[in-house]
Amino acid sequence: MQHYNQHTIASWERFYRANFIQSITGFKPASLIGTINSEGKPNLAIFSSIVHLGSNPALIGYINRPIASAPHTLDNIQSTKVYTINHIQSSFVAQAHQTSAKYNVNINEFEATGLSMRWVDGIKAPFVAESNIQYALQLVEIIPITHNQTFLVIGEVTDIFLKDILPEADGMIAIDKAGSIACLGSDAYYTGNILQRYKYAKPDVPVQSIL
Ligand SMILES: Cc1cc2nc3c(=O)[nH]c(=O)nc-3n(C[C@H](O)[C@H](O)[C@H](O)COP(=O)(O)O)c2cc1C
Repeated sequence: MQHYNQHTIASWERFYRANFIQSITGFKPASLIGTINSEGKPNLAIFSSIVHLGSNPALIGYINRPIASAPHTLDNIQSTKVYTINHIQSSFVAQAHQTSAKYNVNINEFEATGLSMRWVDGIKAPFVAESNIQYALQLVEIIPITHNQTFLVIGEVTDIFLKDILPEADGMIAIDKAGSIACLGSDAYYTGNILQRYKYAKPDVPVQSIL
């Protein structure tokens, strides 16, 4: 087995290290976060560090890089307190990837990439019309991670929109059927296939498939 220790990791070239370390946490959701700034200018950027924090209340977190590297989404969420998260499907993955470019604050990434805005009455942030799974969040808390100047941004889900897909009888959304993709690091994208579903595990009860 190959072994890489902390000293080896620290010695690597930065892009090699970033690819390597981002790979070890595995596949991640690839989604687009839509916001507006205090003057109403829309912004769209791709994020993968999205994590479920709880279902009641429905809390979702994501990690925003240091402000100098990724300023606009965080700024906008701080001022308007509202944002949308939109799953990415393979039909628009190239445009989604392009939103990671460091656009000037005056550029609307929807226009720059050709993605379409969808507005919903009462929600002050744009959805991505092409996306099959879209949801809106109200900011709850931004927790600075002082060790590396990143931020854990926590929001409560206020509205969910599903297109061409309905939840299963038990509430699960088969996001593979919706075509939602996953990503690894900051440049590799994957489609998903279900392997198995199991009943809630209990000690001394044999594992039971529910597919
Ligand atoms: C696949 C992929 C995943 C990304 N995930 C994140 C992430 O989780 N957090 C983050 O801060 N930046 C992430 N980025 C980088 C942002 O998309 C990029 O910094 C973007 O310019 C931020 O835009 P903004 O300043 O408009 O918010 C990711 C980029 C790619 C290509």
